[in-house]
Amino acid sequence: MKKTDIGECKSVKVKCVSELGWFDSEKLIKQIETAGGLDKDQWTIPWDYENAAGSCSLIDMETLDGKHHKFLLDTGWNNPYMDRAFKREGIDKALKNGEIEALIISHEHLDHFWGLETTLKYKPDIKIIIPNTFSAKGKAFLKGAEFKEANVKNGISHRGDTIKVEPEEVKKLYDGCAAVAFDLPIIIGIRGEVSLYFNIKDKGIVCVAGCCHQGIITFAEFAKKNIAGSDKMHGVYGGLHIAPFGVLDDKGEKVIQDMAKYNFKKIACNHCTGVEAVRKMIETELPIVKGTGRYGSASDLYLGAGDEVFF
Ligand SMILES: [Fe+2]
Ligand SMILES: [Fe+2]
Repeated sequence: MKKTDIGECKSVKVKCVSELGWFDSEKLIKQIETAGGLDKDQWTIPWDYENAAGSCSLIDMETLDGKHHKFLLDTGWNNPYMDRAFKREGIDKALKNGEIEALIISHEHLDHFWGLETTLKYKPDIKIIIPNTFSAKGKAFLKGAEFKEANVKNGISHRGDTIKVEPEEVKKLYDGCAAVAFDLPIIIGIRGEVSLYFNIKDKGIVCVAGCCHQGIITFAEFAKKNIAGSDKMHGVYGGLHIAPFGVLDDKGEKVIQDMAKYNFKKIACNHCTGVEAVRKMIETELPIVKGTGRYGSASDLYLGAGDEVFF
């Protein structure tokens, strides 16, 4: 099968704006269980807003001719929390002055999407990229909607273009950058996640995900089969959903073992990867990028809020 040529870029810098989805996992799990379990629709669970934080990263890629493209991956959950993070990292100003070209919403999960108002407040016409697996509720939320049962509201209607990425389609966004949507059922009633591949000249492929619900192995294998340049796999950034609620099981251990075969040079994981999974990766001598453990990030073993990685 012929691999897709997405072009090459010079470099990619990712700043973690916030990787903390929520403050207290136990509380969150209890709420899900009380509401009816992991199959329950997230839009109908009465979430405790006090426990809400959110995941958001700023990507700054440089093309071979020296141009920069900046865009956000996800927009967190709790609006006041996200606004503080945006101000701390200068995202508010960068949105206002048009420096940030797009918002990619990896998937519909509350901790990545429900803080949409914070982005729209500064740039209501920003280009938004979503997987075309969004539910009708998710699509309505973009336009402005309230779901009282779930304690969530977007009071600002999105006025810009929305680009929908079809499952398995390699959607080139810039030279050396493409988005791919993976269609799969995900906990609390959603479908599909869009993730990013960068092809960095002389280095290879960097895989960037929000939660990576498709699994890092599926994510890496897709590149191996479909993206030109994947004979070298250079790096990983994002949530890897290996031990999201703290416990590393046998399946998670196997994923970590299997990750070694790609020979990644830098792995900057955070969010739902889980600190136990990160510890295991360090033990396995995977090249984990450490952080500073600031602004609510629970450990300096992984790349946390306010930290940056350069590929
Ligand atoms: Fe998440
Ligand atoms: Fe998620």
